[in-house]
Amino acid sequence: MLMTYGGGSIKKMGLYDRAVSAIKDAGLELFELSGIEPNPRIGSVRKGVQMCKEHNIDVLLAVGGGSTIDATKIMAPIERALPIVSILTLAATGSEMDTAAVISNPETNDKIGRLDPNMLPKASFLDPSITFSVSPYQTACGSADILSHLFEVYFTMDQDLYMLDCFMEGLMKTVIRFAPIAMREPDNYEARANLMWASSWAINGFVNGGKRKAWSCHPMEHELSAFYDITHGLGLAILTPRWMEYCLEETTVSKYVQFGTNVFGIDPTLPPMDIAHQAIDKLSDFLFNTLQLKRTFPEVGIDRTHFAVMAKKTVGGGTMPGFKPLQQADVEKIFEMCMK
Ligand code: NZQ
Ligand code: ZN
Repeated sequence: MLMTYGGGSIKKMGLYDRAVSAIKDAGLELFELSGIEPNPRIGSVRKGVQMCKEHNIDVLLAVGGGSTIDATKIMAPIERALPIVSILTLAATGSEMDTAAVISNPETNDKIGRLDPNMLPKASFLDPSITFSVSPYQTACGSADILSHLFEVYFTMDQDLYMLDCFMEGLMKTVIRFAPIAMREPDNYEARANLMWASSWAINGFVNGGKRKAWSCHPMEHELSAFYDITHGLGLAILTPRWMEYCLEETTVSKYVQFGTNVFGIDPTLPPMDIAHQAIDKLSDFLFNTLQLKRTFPEVGIDRTHFAVMAKKTVGGGTMPGFKPLQQADVEKIFEMCMK
C-alpha cells in the first residue's frame, strides 16, 4: 500500500499514527509519500507514479484534503486504475466521492482537471472529528467551495427537477448555517458533520439529475490558482458574486428570485430585480463578513497583468457555455469587477 499525505497536519492531529498502526495491524506493507502541496503539483504525482512502479503498489490510501486525494487519483494509472481509498481531513472539494482530480503545473501556469470514473475512490472514511483541527480560514474556503459546487449546477435556466433544486437549497442553507459555527467552535461535531456530508453531496453527481452541466466560476478560478497559487475556495468566493451580477438580466432574474427567497428568506413580494440584488448582497455579506474572506483581487495579490491570458485560457479561445455563455471579453470584465 502507498499512503499519501500533505504537509504534516495529519501528524499534528494524531491521525498519522492511527492510520499507520491500523495498516500494520492488517499486515499490509506500507510505503509513504508526504508533502503533497495545496494546489497539488505534477511533480508530486510523478513521484507517486514512480513509487507505485518501483514497489509494485496495489492500493493507494490518500489521507488529507482535496489536494492529497486529487494527486493520488492521478497517480493511479487510468486504463486500469489502482484502487483508491481516502481518509478525508477537510470538507470542501468532494474529491472523496467524485470522479474528478485537478493538478497544477507551476512551470506552465496550468491547472488542469480530469474526470474519469476509474478515479472514484473505492471507499472514503468521513469522520467529522478529524476536521476539528481545520483552521477557521480553511473552513471558510472549504465552505465557499461547497457553495460554489452547488451554484454551478443550480444557476441554470433549464427546467430541472424541482426536487433537486430543493435539495441544493437545503445544502446551501446547511453550509450557511454551520460554517460560522465551525469557525467559532472548531470541535462542534454537529457543524463539522453537516459540512462534511454537504461537501460530498454537493458534487457527487446526484444534483446533476443525470445531465452534464457546464460550470463557470470553476474554470475562471482554476486560472487564478494556476497563476497565483491562491486557495481554491478563496478565489471562488471573490469571483462568485461578481459572476452573479454579470449574469443578471431580465431573462435570468427568476432564478435569483428563487435563490433569494428560498435560501435567504427575502420578501417574495418585492420587485424581482430588487430580490436579485439583495440575494447577491446577502451572499457577499456571508462570504466576506461572516466567513471573513478577502473581497478583492488586490487584497490577494492579483493585478491585471495576466487578465487577458487567464480569460483566454478560461474559455479555451471560444465561448464557455454555462448559465450565461461567456467569451474572453466577458471573463475579463468579471475579473475587472473583482478589482474593487
Ligand atoms: O498539507 P496538510 O499539512 O495536510 O495541510 C492542509 C493544507 O495546508 C490543511 N488541512 C487539511 N486537513 C486538515 C488541515 N489542517 C488541519 N487539520 C486538518 N484536518 O488544509 C490545507 C488545504 O488542504 P487542501 O487539500 O489543499 O484543501 P482542499 O480540500 O480545499 O483541496 C483543494 C484542491 O482540490 C481541488 C482544488 O482546485 C485544489 O487544488 N478541487 C478538487 C475537486 C475535485 N476533485 O472534485 C473539485 C474542486 O472544485 C477543486 O477544484
Ligand atoms: Zn471547487
